Amino acid sequence: MTKGALALLITGGTENWAAPRWRERFTRVCPDRKVALIPDDPIDPPLVEYAAVWKPKPETLRLYPNLRVIFNLGAGVDAVVADTTLPDVPLVRVAVDDLTQRMTEYVVMHVLMYHRRQRYYAESQQKRAWAPKLQWAASGLRVGVMGMGVLGRDAAEVLKRIGFDVAGWSNTAKDIPGIPCFAGEAGLGAFLARTDVLVCLLPLTPQTRDILNARTFAQLARDGKLGGPVIINAGRGGLQVEDDIVAALNDGTLAGATLDVFGTEPLPVDSPLWSHPLLTISPHNAADTDADEISVYVAEQIAAFERGENLVNVVDRKTGY
Ligand code: NDP
Ligand code: OXD
Repeated sequence: MTKGALALLITGGTENWAAPRWRERFTRVCPDRKVALIPDDPIDPPLVEYAAVWKPKPETLRLYPNLRVIFNLGAGVDAVVADTTLPDVPLVRVAVDDLTQRMTEYVVMHVLMYHRRQRYYAESQQKRAWAPKLQWAASGLRVGVMGMGVLGRDAAEVLKRIGFDVAGWSNTAKDIPGIPCFAGEAGLGAFLARTDVLVCLLPLTPQTRDILNARTFAQLARDGKLGGPVIINAGRGGLQVEDDIVAALNDGTLAGATLDVFGTEPLPVDSPLWSHPLLTISPHNAADTDADEISVYVAEQIAAFERGENLVNVVDRKTGY
């Protein structure tokens, strides 16, 4: 019997993530089914049973009447669930160790950058100045992780093992040894009040949009070692109000910010964010995962699904993550 076809609906991406590369990968890992890169490859829509997508154009997935599963090629599904015509079939997202480890590397690197005052030492080097400053222990820095899901929890646990004083915040309560966890609107104020470094690994949903705003920044701890709180956002650009970040950096409400994600990506060349002296910017590559591993993950899930097994990492369409 002919196996259901896999349609690829992929927009944007770096060279490694470009649509033709995904066609090569999926043709390799799904050798016994038709793989069609949309719109380049002709395919009769009723033959399509699976779709692998990254930022698919709205209203395109509804054109496949026999679609059984949609696989998002990343962890965040905000771009997919924004399509109001999205077919009512399981939507699976990426949650693999490789992605998690890379995100944890990013978070740890930036927390350490603030903790060990790397900017100050880089400036000292420029000035040929041998000027060590007193260094506090990791336990002296309070790190708060917003979003204690697959990514947030791993980052929080690794930061804890390094010695930081870590807390977490999520929708539902968590019980994680050694990491006090706060939940929901009711827990947000207390969580922020004990945070020097705010790490944001939330998904973008109607509830979390713009959560990194002036009101949030004003509630962060002001008595910490860094001389003011700092934020690290590697979730989504829509979580942050960029004007509020600039204003908070300018008036001292924030002492620094690391941003991997932006409201408009790529960040426009004329954005004032590029040149702000207290901002560290990366091009949405905090967890630039091994794409080959993702294609294998999708192929294995399709095979398991066809054996009658459950899909894993299925998005809850009500919460949007
Ligand atoms: P998960 O779904 O595993 O975790 C999401 C976490 O956010 C959960 O702990 C959830 O709470 C919490 N959360 C969701 N909504 C709220 C809310 N309204 N209030 C409080 N907490 C909330 O996602 P991942 O950890 O896998 O990924 C997180 C995000 O990281 C992705 O959605 C994506 O946007 C971003 N990302 C960015 C990348 C990059 O390169 N910059 C790479 C990969 C992902 P609860 O546990 O209670 O449900
Ligand atoms: C993701 C991302 O969501 O790379 O996986 O942003």
